[in-house]
Amino acid sequence: LSAKPLQGQHWVVTAGPTVEAIDPVRYLANRSSGKMGYAIAEMAAKAGAKVTLVSGPVSLDVPFGVNCFKVESAEAMLKQVQDALDNDSVFVSCAAVADYKPKTMATEKMKKSGSEGLTIELSQNPDILRWAAQETNAFCVGFAAETQNVSDYAKSKMERKGITMICANDVSRDDIGFSCDHNELLVFIREHDTTKEQRIGPASKIKVAEQLIELIHQVRPS
Ligand code: C5P
Repeated sequence: LSAKPLQGQHWVVTAGPTVEAIDPVRYLANRSSGKMGYAIAEMAAKAGAKVTLVSGPVSLDVPFGVNCFKVESAEAMLKQVQDALDNDSVFVSCAAVADYKPKTMATEKMKKSGSEGLTIELSQNPDILRWAAQETNAFCVGFAAETQNVSDYAKSKMERKGITMICANDVSRDDIGFSCDHNELLVFIREHDTTKEQRIGPASKIKVAEQLIELIHQVRPS
């Protein structure tokens, strides 16, 4: 990237998991370290963007020059994204948002009762990316973590969410994806009736972030 190509732009990045409370001491969550989203926030700030990072609970330092809001639930993440997004923002939705949350949160710690099993009723969380794609003019980039049929699922997700760019990664592999410092992305870009495909990496998440930012910068209509 040349000196500060993103100067004057506002990038909003979500990262990490969301955690959905079952009771005061237990929650539902998923295996996201937040590393990819934090790398994107860091490199976008280095490239001159004003960056708002909306992050679920992770054990990472906030990158220099990045404005970070920490949240727990998908509902709280949606609220922060709604506050942060302007119509000319770039929205990179890298968080592993929990699709479901417990329908009600028990106010006291749940106790074990006899030898019976336990059923927790779940309800659907709001889809933050879909909201951003439908309700704002922000340029939205999604992520798709899959364990099989990576490219088919990613392409249909792009349609469903109403976005034109999605980054698929195969999380069934040990060497890339969740938790580790490396990643490989297959990026799909829809242009009218055709979908272009571009591979980034395998490389460090920082390198992958740098190349993805460059690609978004090229593809995004100005
Ligand atoms: O549908 P799925 O969760 O697989 O879609 C993944 C993409 O959608 C990611 O970009 C993720 O950040 C976003 N997402 C979201 N809100 C949800 C679920 C997913 O923003 N409730």
